[in-house]
Amino acid sequence: MKAIILVGGEGTRLRPLTYSTVKAMVPVLNKPFIEHVIRYLNKHDIHDIVLAMGYKPDSIMGYFGDAHGLGARLVYSMEESPLGTAGAVKNAEKHIDDTFFVLNGDIFTDIDLTDMLKFHRQKKSKLTIALTPVDDPTHFGVVETDADHRIIRFVEKPSKEEVTTNRINAGVYILEPEILQRIPQATFCMFERQVFPALVAEDEPAFGYHTDAYWIDTGTPAKYLQLTRDLMYGKSCHITFQSHCIEVHPRSTIHPGAKLNGPVLIDKDCDIGKGVHLKGPAVIGPGCTLEDGSIIENCILWHNVKVGRGAILRDCIVAGDNHIEDNSRIEGTAINNKAMAKKG
Ligand code: GDD
Ligand code: MG
Repeated sequence: MKAIILVGGEGTRLRPLTYSTVKAMVPVLNKPFIEHVIRYLNKHDIHDIVLAMGYKPDSIMGYFGDAHGLGARLVYSMEESPLGTAGAVKNAEKHIDDTFFVLNGDIFTDIDLTDMLKFHRQKKSKLTIALTPVDDPTHFGVVETDADHRIIRFVEKPSKEEVTTNRINAGVYILEPEILQRIPQATFCMFERQVFPALVAEDEPAFGYHTDAYWIDTGTPAKYLQLTRDLMYGKSCHITFQSHCIEVHPRSTIHPGAKLNGPVLIDKDCDIGKGVHLKGPAVIGPGCTLEDGSIIENCILWHNVKVGRGAILRDCIVAGDNHIEDNSRIEGTAINNKAMAKKG
């Protein structure tokens, strides 16, 4: 079984957090986001993975190569310019020979892909879309189904008036290869705005797979913080972190006078100074220095972040190579790679 992961497009960066890191490489518990997705697919016996990329592939390719170390066979399908979700899949057509999965590359989920495939086959479906409930469907694709789970309506980013259900497109699809014939070659085309509504209008067998499994679209800094918090409190069955857990890489040093309240994860080559208070959930990337008396609460620090003496950081994401000045007070902010944090 093969899967195509969509990791391109305009929204590929987690703005305003970072200008130089693609969303797929944003660290989640100190591992690139996409690594979690690859491991998740592997668990469902999906090892042949195509990354459909519309933008700056070098960092991903450099890190993963063919990903055999992860137990996967990873190939890269490149677009010269973004072709849209369906156009990107069409562009990867040569890798497809049978029923296949497509995943939006910015979602983290526990959806049972094995069960979803069983459902797809039972229904003799040509397109199966995983459906998840959300509070505000206007940011997503709303999917209406009948009593037999057949899709009767698909509306992308509906207005409030158009919302008839809180079940939305979770960004996980199973497709039959014949769907590819509907997508024009080398042309911008979206599943959500063109292909799916057309399939429904033509009464093709398209079904919705309802699930309440853990699911989150990580497209904003707030959602990214939430994902980290959720994972550290054990909300996903793929990560075994415990809320009281404090995990420190053996190459890092913690001053005996520092105080750590879990869940806390500290990567290699970090230096945690005297009187530092780390209040979980907190993830500290490799090479970080937390100077004496700093307080860090509900934060994600990427690589080589230096937090000055007495600085207080709450609900923050700090991208790599930043220096937070002594005695700064920063709350609820995402600090990108370019900006240097000023005294607050
Ligand atoms: N390769 C490639 N090329 N990938 C693309 C392109 C493209 O031109 N355009 C978008 N993508 C990828 C994005 O990187 C992302 O992983 C995925 O397709 C979805 O694009 P987003 O920009 O994140 O869309 P969204 O979050 O607003 O909406 C989509 O996801 C929702 C669920 O999170 C839609 O599929 C909605 O219907 C859905 O509910
Ligand atoms: Mg998205």
